[in-house]
Amino acid sequence: MAKPRVFSGVQPTGNLHLGNYLGAIRNWVKLQADYECIYCVVDMHAITVWQDPADLTRATREVTASLIAAGIDPEGSILFNQSRVPSHAETAWIFNCVARMGWLNRMTQFKEKAGKDRENASVGLFAYPNLMAADILAYQATHVPVGEDQKQHLELARDIAQKFNFDYGVEHFPAPEPLILGEATRVMSLRDGTKKMSKSDASDQSRINLTDSADDIAQKIRRAKTDPAALPASVEELEGRPEARNLYAIHAALGDETVADVVAAFAERQFSDFKKEMTERAVDRLGPLTAEMRRLMADPGHIDAILHRGAERANEIAAPILAETKRIVGFV
Ligand code: TRP
Repeated sequence: MAKPRVFSGVQPTGNLHLGNYLGAIRNWVKLQADYECIYCVVDMHAITVWQDPADLTRATREVTASLIAAGIDPEGSILFNQSRVPSHAETAWIFNCVARMGWLNRMTQFKEKAGKDRENASVGLFAYPNLMAADILAYQATHVPVGEDQKQHLELARDIAQKFNFDYGVEHFPAPEPLILGEATRVMSLRDGTKKMSKSDASDQSRINLTDSADDIAQKIRRAKTDPAALPASVEELEGRPEARNLYAIHAALGDETVADVVAAFAERQFSDFKKEMTERAVDRLGPLTAEMRRLMADPGHIDAILHRGAERANEIAAPILAETKRIVGFV
């Protein structure tokens, strides 16, 4: 039997960091064993807020390089950038006419990103979820690995698929399902354990970038916020200690262990001990990845060739689906 099809997207904005790696990319790599995987660098989503063109080009290559360095196989899986495959934009337009204003008005990410100045947000930012639905459904993908923050968008994609099918009386689009991934690690800021690690945090000390050197990583972990209490003797003792909990979760994820394993290993020891071992582990795990990324980034032409080839393969799947979508709508 054919493997079920997975689609997921990542925005080429700024550097990827440890949160992206442990929360998403690591799982994308694992999914390759059991699914037909289509991974997309969503440059069209990126421009829903202003992007300097040169930065967008560089970030597109950088994200692609990190994905390959992390273990996405561009031969087995399909890896490409969104703007090279026309089905995304064309399907999105049709979905603009399927989705209702009321549905999009409820999207919390739009409210957050537009902030108080809604009048000045781009129309693209408002219609962002329709393009995301198009990404997935242009391939009739059935499974989508997403984090908590994208669940509402995926729900909308299901609504769009269902309304399209109902309105036109067809069974054309499958309702895509979220793939909830193992212990999806929610990586928090190294400066504030209650905030998500984020590329938009003003302090670079708050995150470990996938481009950081071993020295950067060591220094950031050394300065990471902790608390004065002794290291926990049980997982429950991490309650109310967001910084300690975050460091333990990162250490566990980097070593493919559980938090309970880490608690057991460090009970009655010192934070300084723990941080030393955490640094070693982070450098061991991320070092080869960053080295491979640098190697790839040295040859942008090679990265572009990978993306172009990926786009051709993506288009082979998407083009006949789009032709059928247009036929259903009544386009001549
Ligand atoms: N909106 C997603 C994010 O910001 C990125 C994305 C775009 C995506 N299209 C997608 C994720 C399709 C899953 C499926 O993280």
